[in-house]
Amino acid sequence: MASESTAQANIGVVGMAVMGSNLARNLASREGNTVAIFNRSFEKTQTVLDEHPEAEFIPASSYEEFAASLSKPRTAIIMVQAGRGTDAVIDALTSVFEPGDIIVDGGNALFTDTIRREKAVRETGINFVGTGISGGEEGALLGPSIMPGGSAEAYETLGPILSSIAAVVDGVPCVTHVGTDGAGHFVKMIHNGIEYADMQLIAEAYDLIRRGTGYSPAQIADVFTEWNKGELESYLIEITAEVLKQVDASTGTPLVDLILDQAGSKGTGVWTVQNALDLGIPVSGIAEAVFARSLSSKPAQRAAASALPGPAEPWGVDNNEAFIEDVRRALYASKIVAYSQGFDAIVAGAEQYGWDIKKGDIATIWRGGCIIRAQFLNRITEAYAEDPGLVALITAPYFTAAVTGAQESWRQVVAHAAKAGIPAPAFSSSLSYYDGLRADRLPAALVQGQRDFFGAHTYKRVDKEGTFHTLWSGDRSEIQAVDSH
Ligand SMILES: NC(=O)c1ccc[n+]([C@@H]2O[C@H](COP(=O)([O-])OP(=O)(O)OC[C@H]3O[C@@H](n4cnc5c(N)ncnc54)[C@H](OP(=O)(O)O)[C@@H]3O)[C@@H](O)[C@H]2O)c1
Repeated sequence: MASESTAQANIGVVGMAVMGSNLARNLASREGNTVAIFNRSFEKTQTVLDEHPEAEFIPASSYEEFAASLSKPRTAIIMVQAGRGTDAVIDALTSVFEPGDIIVDGGNALFTDTIRREKAVRETGINFVGTGISGGEEGALLGPSIMPGGSAEAYETLGPILSSIAAVVDGVPCVTHVGTDGAGHFVKMIHNGIEYADMQLIAEAYDLIRRGTGYSPAQIADVFTEWNKGELESYLIEITAEVLKQVDASTGTPLVDLILDQAGSKGTGVWTVQNALDLGIPVSGIAEAVFARSLSSKPAQRAAASALPGPAEPWGVDNNEAFIEDVRRALYASKIVAYSQGFDAIVAGAEQYGWDIKKGDIATIWRGGCIIRAQFLNRITEAYAEDPGLVALITAPYFTAAVTGAQESWRQVVAHAAKAGIPAPAFSSSLSYYDGLRADRLPAALVQGQRDFFGAHTYKRVDKEGTFHTLWSGDRSEIQAVDSH
C-alpha cells in the first residue's frame, strides 16, 4: 500500500496523451488544485513536464508513486485509450488505492463496460465514476462539458473539482451528476449520436445549396455565418463556415473540394444506434447519419454504381435566396427531430437501467464546452422545465410552433432533393418520422395483418377488446387468440 507521507496532490490524471495532458493543465490552472500525473511510458510525462512548468505537476513513474502523491480520499481521472487500456489502468489503480478513494474514467467508454467496471470496483470499496467528457482537445484544456455517472457519494467530492474545470454558460458550469454507474457514458454516447445527425444535416444543407444555386464554398460559408446569428446558432454551424472558407495554399482550390469524400468514425454513433435498436427507439436521423458515413466509405460500390441513371429532367432553383431560406428552415426542423429522438433514447435508457436522469439538466450542460453546443439547447431546458413529463420533445409548444413554421419549406426541400437526385437521407428521414408520429392511422395495421397471415402472430382491433387471429389457410373466419406479439 502506498505511503501518505509524500501526498501533495488533491487530484491526479493517468494518461498524458492529448486529452489527459490538456485536462491536467486545465485542472492545474484552477485555484487550489495540485495535480499529480502519470503515463504508462514516462516519455509523455516528461514532455508534459518540460512543456508546462507553469502547471507545477507532480510526476510519478509508477502507480505506487502516483498513489503516494495523492491526498485522501485519492481522486484520479483516467484518460487513456478506451477498452483494454482503461481496464489495465483500473486494475493497477485498484491495487494501490484504498476504500473511499475515487477512480474516474473520463475516456469514451461504452456505458455497459462502465456498468461492469463500476460493479467490480465497488466490491473493493473504491468508488468508480464513469464520466463522459465532450469538447475534444480544446474543450479538455479550456472547459469541456462533463457528464459524470457513479455514486452520489463520490460526486460530493468530485463535483466541485469537475465544476471548476467545466465550461460555464450564464454562470452555470456544464456539469451535473447524470445518474448512477453508466449513466454518464450513456448520455455522452447519445450526445455523440446527436452530433452525427447534426453534422450530416449541415452537410446535406451545404450540398443542396451548392448544387441548387451554384454558389462557391466561400459564398456558402457566408450563408452559414449569417445562419449562425439566428436560431441555428451553434458551434457546428460556426466551424462549417470556417471549413468552407478554407482555401488550399498549394492549389488555390477550396479545401472542401480536395478532401476525400469518405467520412470516418470512431464508433459512438454506431453504439447509439445499436442501443436505440435494442431499446426500440426510432433514432432515424442519427441512424441515417451513421449510414451516410458508411455509404461514403464504400469506394468500390460507389465506382460500380456511378453509371446508374439519375433524373431525366434537369433541375434548377428559380430564386436562390428563397431556396436557401427553405433549406435553413428544413435544417432547423430536422434538427429538432434529431434532438427529440436523442432525448427519447435518454428517457428509454434511464427507464431500462434505473437512472434518474433530469432531461432539462442534460440540455443545460450541453450548452457549452461540447461539440453540439447551441443556443437552441436553452429551448430544450425550458421545455422540460415547463413539462417534466413531456412525452416527445417535438410536441412541446415552442418546437411544435417551430416545426409548423418550417414544414412547407421542409417538404419543398425534400421534394427538390428527390427530384434532383441529391441524397438527403437525414432531411427526408426526419420528415418521414414527423409524418409518422403525427399520423392518425399508420400502415402498421397492414403489417399486423401480414404477420398474422404467415406467422399467426395475432392482432388487436380498434373496435373491440381482445386478441384475434384469422384462419387464413382455413375458412378465414376470425377467432379469439392468445396475445403472441
Ligand atoms: N481525442 C479527443 O478529441 C477525445 C475526445 C473525447 C474523449 N476522448 C477519449 O479520451 C481518452 C484519451 O484520448 P487521447 O486521444 O488523449 O488518447 P488515446 O490516443 O486514446 O490513448 C493514448 C493513451 O492511452 C495510454 N494507454 C493505452 N493503453 C494503455 C495501457 N494498457 N495501460 C496504460 N496506459 C495505456 C497511452 O499510454 P502510452 O503513452 O504509454 O502508450 C496514452 O497515454 C480516450 O478514451 C478517448 O476516446 C478523446
